[in-house]
Amino acid sequence: MWRVALPLALVTLFCSPALIGAASPDGLVLATPQSASAVMPPPACAYQDVTTMFAGYGDWALTLLDTTEMLPSGYVPPDLVSTSKAGLNGGYQVRAVAVADLAAMAKAAAAAHAPLAVASAYRSFATQVGTFKKWVRALGMSKALLTSARAGHSEHQLGLAIDFEAKGGRLPWDYSNWATATAAGKWMAAHAWQYGFVMSYPAGKTAKTCYGFEPWHYRYVGRAEAAAVRASGLTLREWLWQQLPAPPEPAG
Ligand code: DAL
Ligand code: ZN
Repeated sequence: MWRVALPLALVTLFCSPALIGAASPDGLVLATPQSASAVMPPPACAYQDVTTMFAGYGDWALTLLDTTEMLPSGYVPPDLVSTSKAGLNGGYQVRAVAVADLAAMAKAAAAAHAPLAVASAYRSFATQVGTFKKWVRALGMSKALLTSARAGHSEHQLGLAIDFEAKGGRLPWDYSNWATATAAGKWMAAHAWQYGFVMSYPAGKTAKTCYGFEPWHYRYVGRAEAAAVRASGLTLREWLWQQLPAPPEPAG
């Protein structure tokens, strides 16, 4: 099945819950492989429910989630541990695969007088249902779609996305730009990649990421991948689309 793209501008203008539901009348479908060409841009932002290609628990570095690609509702990482294992505040969970780098990053940030705390981390499919509804109530559908992922589409379900805050500071979304307003935000923007974390939704990239600027939201992809994403100059979404296998050549 080929995708039917719904450009973001159209969704912003006309989006309603009924329209989102209509985008995937037959439920989940397998992803259509995209070209691995370095010049191939990701598809325009659209709202569909397509099971992402790399959806195994071992595929975490390459799992592409956006407003189209999603995880199954039953995707619950098997190795969730408390964020306190990384020397940060507890009350939240992350995958064990991220803990060593998260601990090293938290230690380095604190040593640089930019101590971090966790404002949100793993969120289940069911939790994200409630989170998205809350944003719809607060902002209306079109703005909520740029702020919050629909259930199944959030990197938080991977157990590898963390919303950081400055330890002892206000919530990061209470600043106009957490990445410039706080020492923690500045330090993260400069150094998180060295520990395997990528800012998923940078400023001025909504057409590429499909979400508004979220200077607090970082996804762990591992040190090698984070360095590659940074070197590419691409957003994480663009980079992950490029990692998908090329479609087969047409026969004949
Ligand atoms: N705020 C991001 C897009 C999420 O809900 O995962
Ligand atoms: Zn987040």
